Amino acid sequence: MIRWVLTSIIVLCVGCAEQQIQPLPDVYPPVPSNYPPVPAPSDNPITPAKVALGKELFYERRLSSEGTIACASCHRPEHAFSDAPNQVSRGVGGALGQRNAPTLVNVAYRTSLFWDGRASTLEDQAFSAFMHSTEMDADTLAVAALLRSPQYRAQWIASFGDTTVTMYRAMQAIATFERTIVSANSRYDKFVRGDRSALTQIEREGMDLFFSARTMCGACHNGPDFTNDQFQNIGLFHHYFDRGRFNVTREPRDEGLFKTPTLRNVALTAPYMATGDSQKGLMSTLEDVVEHYDLGGTAFPNKDKRVAPLNLSDREKLALVAFMRALTDSSVLTNPAWTQR
Ligand code: HEC
Ligand code: HEC
Repeated sequence: MIRWVLTSIIVLCVGCAEQQIQPLPDVYPPVPSNYPPVPAPSDNPITPAKVALGKELFYERRLSSEGTIACASCHRPEHAFSDAPNQVSRGVGGALGQRNAPTLVNVAYRTSLFWDGRASTLEDQAFSAFMHSTEMDADTLAVAALLRSPQYRAQWIASFGDTTVTMYRAMQAIATFERTIVSANSRYDKFVRGDRSALTQIEREGMDLFFSARTMCGACHNGPDFTNDQFQNIGLFHHYFDRGRFNVTREPRDEGLFKTPTLRNVALTAPYMATGDSQKGLMSTLEDVVEHYDLGGTAFPNKDKRVAPLNLSDREKLALVAFMRALTDSSVLTNPAWTQR
């Protein structure tokens, strides 16, 4: 018995010592081999302490005025951090928003945020969700008291070096956590990394079609995350009640333009598009999306020329959908680094 206790103490101590001296890996957080290191603002470097605090705050419902809504209420890990299957989300008091909540996977690499690009950093973006009346509608005095409480005190000091509580620091922690949600382990990624058997025949046909000059899908959905981070109109409506990028720039040529969304984990984030629908109704499946592109969209003055009738065969439609389904990385849904313990 004594021997067992002694051994455990030694093992435990070795464990502690290792943890203390273990340096951070060169690239922190770890990223897939086809991705650059995660970018972060110079005033908000990524540290393990801040990631841990940011994760707690991402799941913290008491940040909202009624104590009911956390970031994770609308960005749910089991749906790749989107709010599927909801077309729009409910915030505090059941208030309905107007747009579809996007996935947060690989959001660290986006150069503009929101469907209309009105935020350029994750810190500003988080602050806007935090304060928005139809999202969290935060009561900043109550939140400051919570963040000063013993529950958060030690983590706060570990993250920021002192006890000064500001809402911006809280958003810096949440943004830091978001930056670590980096994933590229779908079957498509395995195929790209050299495992030729990772994709089936029809998925490969879909991939070739997707990147072909005929469909032009890859003209806008390109790069490791299948987005050019630009704004385009794809002819979803004759008239856009949600004017998209126009709301930011006030330029007529931006009327009805929205950010190209990433297609990573797209099979898990239905319904689709900025408002979850089109002239024809809800965009509830990838089949609906392919049908939209096959018909070349609805006439609209700002519609991008690359969206034009495709005359796809039934097999080609199936292939495109099959390819997009192969972009699912199911490890995102269960990775304990990102899901609530
Ligand atoms: C009530 C639901 C709701 C809550 C709560 C919420 N979000 Fe969102 N989030 C959305 C919706 C809807 C959008 C898209 C809005 C738009 O584009 O105008 C969005 C967009 C985003 C984006 C932009 C992603 C991109 O690719 O452009 C990020 C990042 C984000 N939210 C993070 C957060 C964080 C962090 C919190 C907590 C502080 C949070 N959200 C709370 C619904 C929500
Ligand atoms: C001209 C650029 C462009 C081209 C070409 C294009 N897309 Fe898109 N795609 C977009 C934009 C922009 C949106 C969002 C539109 C909106 O919400 O108003 C979008 C949305 C989507 C969505 C919905 C994703 C989500 O999370 O809501 C899917 C799926 C998709 N496109 C697949 C395709 C496929 C498949 C093709 C080829 C047949 C294609 N796209 C061609 C720009 C493009």
